[in-house]
Amino acid sequence: MEKQALLYEGKAKKLYQTSESELLWVEYKDDATAFNGEKQDVLSGKGLLNNEISSLLFEKLAENGIPSHFEKKLSSTEQLVIKTDIIPLEVVVRNVVAGSLHRRTGIEEGTELHQPIVEFYYKDDALGDPLINHDHIRILQAAVPEQVESMKEKALAVNESLKTHFQSCGLILVDFKLEFGTTADGTLILADEISPDTCRLWDEKTREKFDKDVFRYGLGSLQDGYTEILKRLGGSVHD
Ligand code: C5P
Repeated sequence: MEKQALLYEGKAKKLYQTSESELLWVEYKDDATAFNGEKQDVLSGKGLLNNEISSLLFEKLAENGIPSHFEKKLSSTEQLVIKTDIIPLEVVVRNVVAGSLHRRTGIEEGTELHQPIVEFYYKDDALGDPLINHDHIRILQAAVPEQVESMKEKALAVNESLKTHFQSCGLILVDFKLEFGTTADGTLILADEISPDTCRLWDEKTREKFDKDVFRYGLGSLQDGYTEILKRLGGSVHD
């Protein structure tokens, strides 16, 4: 397998073509951004931590019968994934009130939701990734109704699997964001990454935050938080 031309560079990852047309080479970067790019930094070791954590979580999901684009970890900062056309929707699942749900509703941060809720955001930097409903998805032609239903079902399955897994590591899965894509034959699969950049994870006893909120709100060292998550998942920073 050879790494070929750079196809796309995002805020946290670079995607390269490979010698196999159906596979992409992903490199996790050390760049940290928040508030739609308004806050930026380069945090040494972040790419490695996210790659390790994301690889472990995709492996756990596969064990639990939830497929994704993840093929294998290539190095401490790289993964091989199945190429997909990304659906321009961010699917957020929430178990506990935090972040924009707290700001939008006024419900106190930390309030447990009796049932998880699923939200869709339109992936568009210029618009600031707005929250949208099923009618908006239809007029934007972002996805067909069957895909929307399937994404919701898959997102809830991911939630059940990861919530239990994090619980066994002493962590509360507060909320997270997923992205989905379609493969060459049109199959809808889970794509992108699942990492502390895209999840809120709190200590179950102290409710200390270990995720990207540490960077967003200047609560301490992002690397320390992410290292704690990796350690609790049974991983290490060495290959
Ligand atoms: O900011 P908000 O409360 O809507 O975020 C919900 C969850 O989705 C958080 O875990 C956050 O890290 C994640 N998210 C993300 N990428 C975005 C927006 C939110 O990973 N563009």
